Amino acid sequence: MFIKELNLKNFRNYSNLCIEFEKGINVITGDNALGKTNILESISILSNIRSFRNITDSEIFKWGESSYYCSMLLGSPPYSRFEVGCADVSGKIKKRAKIDGVPGKKISDYYGKFLTVILTPEDISLITGPPELRRRFFDSIICKTDTEYLNILTGYKKIIASRNRVLRDIRDNKANARDLDVWDDMYADRASFILKKRIEFLKGFNSWFRDSELYISNRTDLLYMEYNSTLSSADRDAVLKEISKKRPRDIFKGFTCSGPHRDDYSLLTDDGKVFRNCASQGQIRTSAISLKIAELKLLENEMNENPVLLLDDILGELDFNRRNRIMDMIEQKEQVIITTINDLIIKDRASGFKKFQVTGGSVIC
Ligand SMILES: Nc1ncnc2c1ncn2[C@@H]1O[C@H](COP(=O)(O)OP(=O)(O)O)[C@@H](O)[C@H]1O
Ligand SMILES: [Mg+2]
Repeated sequence: MFIKELNLKNFRNYSNLCIEFEKGINVITGDNALGKTNILESISILSNIRSFRNITDSEIFKWGESSYYCSMLLGSPPYSRFEVGCADVSGKIKKRAKIDGVPGKKISDYYGKFLTVILTPEDISLITGPPELRRRFFDSIICKTDTEYLNILTGYKKIIASRNRVLRDIRDNKANARDLDVWDDMYADRASFILKKRIEFLKGFNSWFRDSELYISNRTDLLYMEYNSTLSSADRDAVLKEISKKRPRDIFKGFTCSGPHRDDYSLLTDDGKVFRNCASQGQIRTSAISLKIAELKLLENEMNENPVLLLDDILGELDFNRRNRIMDMIEQKEQVIITTINDLIIKDRASGFKKFQVTGGSVIC
């Protein structure tokens, strides 16, 4: 896959922007805070409908505006045009996504059709941050490779919201404990499906992850991700039994305390130590990169596509050897878009890169 043209309207600090990218490596340079990451953010929204930055859509509207729009043309079939628009309509945020002019009715009509993998300095929070970030990271990959998982996960989230409402009603004596039966049943079906899929997925992911670690860091003591569930079994009937048993606790708290929405993944060393408790900052940074490279390799293999690789200011943080290994790897990719303050970092590489200079609100080639 490769992007031919990107168009932004009222997106962050851009009123109107059109950039023509090329196959291969594209490098966007410019001083701090001029809008380099904003460009990658728009591409990640066109890929995932949501930003990789943990923010609300209204923060993306150019200040003083109440909508944004981004679109892009792809250079290879089967799809050619992706669009995402978002507007504040009487205080409500409305978002629309279209592929080749056809609006998506559900997320799976859009999600996973244009693949990107983004590496950012914030990726270390996949290792050091809260469980939610790890769940989101893994869910986003599984959803791209498996539409059924995406639909079931979307349904599961709605069931949890409804079940939580009933739990609070029971606590406030506005509903009866029996009202939970129907929700528990639906919960058990989906929780069991999600758990089985995540555990199965992780086996494949771990082998890509170990490959990437070996390649990037030359580690001899390898790492693996382990799934930590808040439920004791993935079996559907066992899940139903367990959630029924935990009802009094859930009613008391007013929300569903166990299930895939509360689970976590932990990164362990081969001898079982929790990596984040014993690793240096440098090791954590390298492992975060390996997680993303594993995502890239897995998507390439499972989807038989070449995701567009986005590197947000990460090369400057790496030592010479690691940077070289990453550059060796990306030079073989169909399209890579790199942002960097200092293009000296890549000057010793081939000269065929397309270069862009960000100058605050506009971009020149
Ligand atoms: N909603 C917005 N409207 C206008 N400008 C914004 C908005 N959000 C962020 N900015 C501006 O974007 C710039 C940061 O862009 P960013 O892409 O993160 O910079 P960098 O080039 O360092 O990656 C800042 O100058 C910030 O003020
Ligand atoms: Mg930036």
